[in-house]
Amino acid sequence: MRKKLVAGNWKMNQDYTSGTALFSEILTMVQDEVLGNQEVVVCPPYIHLSTLSQLAKTSSKVSLGAQNCHQAEAGAYTGEVSVAMIQSVGAKYVILGHSERRQYFGETDALLAEKTNTVLANGLNPIFCIGETLQERESGNFLEIIASQLKNGIFHLNADQFAEVVLAYEPVWAIGTGLTATPEQAQEVHAFIRQEIARQYNAATADNCTILYGGSCNPKNASELFAQPDIDGGLIGGASLKSRDFVDIVKTFNGR
Ligand code: PGA
Repeated sequence: MRKKLVAGNWKMNQDYTSGTALFSEILTMVQDEVLGNQEVVVCPPYIHLSTLSQLAKTSSKVSLGAQNCHQAEAGAYTGEVSVAMIQSVGAKYVILGHSERRQYFGETDALLAEKTNTVLANGLNPIFCIGETLQERESGNFLEIIASQLKNGIFHLNADQFAEVVLAYEPVWAIGTGLTATPEQAQEVHAFIRQEIARQYNAATADNCTILYGGSCNPKNASELFAQPDIDGGLIGGASLKSRDFVDIVKTFNGR
């Protein structure tokens, strides 16, 4: 059985006080209400990782992730954060290739391939994001875009390395827009991704890979999305800033 996972991406939101309060609420609610084996990951801004991972020590269900990292191990890169630093404060995951990083910070598939290597070399797990823009969806060739993001960003890994990766399909047109992909649209792409993994590696690797959906996921639409056979959880932006909504999304897996 592949792992079910819900990750919250706080993006550039929450200061020390509000972030600590939000995380404490999430910890309590998860402890009291989450029944299944689903993993819960919170990805705050870097600056909160150390504090929140101290708080998370009491929880067996909630872990932490960073939203980005630098590709180099260390060095003269003013303002950047290395994977070793992220690892040293207790985080387990690093989001890579979020569409906002690709769009606003010019991150390319080649750069993301390097970052992936660095994350894995430090024993952490990438949450690797792929997804098409609205224009690409409307042009009808969105599956080719997905295939090329996989090929150039992540398929250089060997099967053992790939087993450490969580993928997130996030149609760019659905992120922060309130426009969710329909369960059928999302399932079509998730099934395609799994088929591409099977072609690159093998059927078992494809079957074991956790593939999240992201883009305007909320407590109302999560249950239909997560009921699709190839959707294993979500990467949640806006709704992860409200403890009640986030934990309700996580609870979609209760009893499944
Ligand atoms: P959203 O963001 O849930 O606010 O659409 C998702 C994401 O960017 O990961």
